[in-house]
Amino acid sequence: MNATLPTPEALRAALAGLLDGLPPTKAAQAVDRLIANYRGTTPTDTPVLRDRADVAAYAAYRMPATFEAVRSALAALRDAAPAWRPATHTDVGGGTGAASWAVAEAWEEAGDEAPRTTVLDWAEPALALGRELAAASGAPGLRGAEWRRARIGGALRLDPVDLVTVSYVLKELTPADRDALVTEAARAAAAVLIVEPGTPDGYERIIAARDRLIGAGLRIAAPCPHSAACPIAPGTDWCHFSARVSRSSLHRQVKGGSLAYEDEKFAYVAAVRFPAEPATARVTRRPQIRKGQVLLDLCTAEEGLRRDTVTKRHGALYKEARDIEWGAGF
Ligand SMILES: C[S@@+](CC[C@H](N)C(=O)[O-])C[C@H]1O[C@@H](n2cnc3c(N)ncnc32)[C@H](O)[C@@H]1O
Repeated sequence: MNATLPTPEALRAALAGLLDGLPPTKAAQAVDRLIANYRGTTPTDTPVLRDRADVAAYAAYRMPATFEAVRSALAALRDAAPAWRPATHTDVGGGTGAASWAVAEAWEEAGDEAPRTTVLDWAEPALALGRELAAASGAPGLRGAEWRRARIGGALRLDPVDLVTVSYVLKELTPADRDALVTEAARAAAAVLIVEPGTPDGYERIIAARDRLIGAGLRIAAPCPHSAACPIAPGTDWCHFSARVSRSSLHRQVKGGSLAYEDEKFAYVAAVRFPAEPATARVTRRPQIRKGQVLLDLCTAEEGLRRDTVTKRHGALYKEARDIEWGAGF
């Protein structure tokens, strides 16, 4: 393994260093308080991440999961535009930098230089800790990132940039700020990636953002195989995916149980201004493997939602179907 890559392991090591000196019960209490806050009436007028203990708790508890979700979404974007390499990146509401870690890893892993990243957030303690973690990463792309205080709202202006990421942020904004941010991201960037929790309301925010991005002239690179209307009838279902995350000891302490991992459910959209080739079909649920057959729920370019039964008779396709994962192109 390349020691300078911002991998999940490197992130876990950097986060473990953070909690040194914070008594385990203190960390667990801070996480409890944050969870209560996030369940409460967001958006708020002031940052929820107020001090270092809040931020350390957020980072240790949530960052591995948001990192994995963004990582997965970026893999789909890269599949749709394999030749594209962003030279610049802005992570809006970037907090402690989970999406920036994923962006740095995505292109450094491919042997390219990571884009020059700017992280924007209104919570100074989050930016400070993000900077600290990035310094501990050993990854040149992350260490060179700029961490800047900015408030998301109608007045926010972004510099022209290749890639904008907005990860787990829309939920915290008022509807007006949400719309303003998506419009501004579409104006400033060649590619926009938005990730939200994989819940029905997270999906609704993603669909509203998707419509706005298409309206601004971008086309969808992932997860949708097309830029037409989403075929899911409103209120009947929600498109979301899953990323596996190793659990930390803090996780086990807060959530109980001894599972070594958990699955982070997320919804996302990646839209671009340049030519891209979205998958012709995407697996929208966990494939069901039965004796001699695989049931695949797909979203397709031509027919919208479709269920395929792939059997042994399909030969190579069956082999492919048996190994395919939820969220992959097919
Ligand atoms: C749930 S955290 C997500 C952080 C990071 N993007 C990630 O994926 O882990 C939401 C972030 O949005 C920031 N945020 C919320 N409202 C904001 C606003 N109006 N202006 C700037 N930042 C905001 C918070 O400070 C926090 O860092």
